[in-house]
Amino acid sequence: MKKLTRNFPKTRARRLRKNLAIRNLVAETNLDISKLIQPLFVSDSIKDTEEIISMPGQYRFSKEMLKFEIEQLLKLGLSTVALFPHLQKVKKNNEGSEAINPDNFLCNVIKDVKIEFPELVVIADIALDPYTSSGHDGILKGGYIDNDLTLDALSEMSINLADVGTDILAPSDMMDGRIGVIRDRLEEKEYKDVILISYAVKYASNYYGPFRDAVGSTNDNGISKDSYQMDYRNIKEAHKEVQLDIEEGADIVMVKPALSNLDIINSISKSYDVPVFSYQVSGEYSMLKYGIDKKLFDSNVIPETLMSIFRAGSNSILTYFAKLMAENK
Ligand code: PBG
Repeated sequence: MKKLTRNFPKTRARRLRKNLAIRNLVAETNLDISKLIQPLFVSDSIKDTEEIISMPGQYRFSKEMLKFEIEQLLKLGLSTVALFPHLQKVKKNNEGSEAINPDNFLCNVIKDVKIEFPELVVIADIALDPYTSSGHDGILKGGYIDNDLTLDALSEMSINLADVGTDILAPSDMMDGRIGVIRDRLEEKEYKDVILISYAVKYASNYYGPFRDAVGSTNDNGISKDSYQMDYRNIKEAHKEVQLDIEEGADIVMVKPALSNLDIINSISKSYDVPVFSYQVSGEYSMLKYGIDKKLFDSNVIPETLMSIFRAGSNSILTYFAKLMAENK
């Protein structure tokens, strides 16, 4: 760092803030919508669309309406969606066995979507939470999530999703060893180009509440996700998770939530030679959306937060505001 000298008026920082054109010329970060990924919820039990109460402005789509929505997103210039299923209770059990049914709802949705929109990049979450009656990401055994039993299900689920043409698998379950097991299974099946985005740094966060409402995985069994998701007091642990996942075969690593972990995004992006994605999660979305709707602040708060996530070092962002940003570009 250079020594600070008092050289006013030679230096006036405000010269470069004089008008928008000047500010644009010197701006260090840009909001490029090709770097935004829209998460979408698809339901097996509704007719067309249903607004998610805890996420105003976000919807659960039927399979048909999902395709209509995707068409709009592509027209707006977005390229990538992350799909999450919302399933009827009868499809759920303790093992989440519907997750490994090759003919399940999500597999069918993705198969159809990829036929209709081959150019669309589809990301599917790898975790059992939409399928378990507990809402947990893995299989509950004696009040604890069984790591290794869950790995079998996750790798099976991954192959099924690769079979229907999913471009990117995103394990979000936080089981140990899952990236390695999934990568080995993919290679075994000759899925050489399926990309793995590891939710490597996934903190056990209160900000996931609205998402759990959206997919219907809110759990009332009193068992939290703290025994597998990360403790938000830790930084070293984030580096350990990232290192392990890269070694196991992850192509991209993800940090979430985004806004409360800008320091982590920054240090991970500086420390590793892989792209870092961030997830501006449901609670971040709803917090901002409620504030905007109540006129607490202007909707420019959206690019402000996204820009801060890019500035921290994120390559791309999963955000429920992707469509809105594309509409207003
Ligand atoms: C499920 C999953 C969660 C999110 C993405 N995948 C929730 C959770 O772990 O309970 C959160 C996304 C959001 O809040 O928008 N494994």
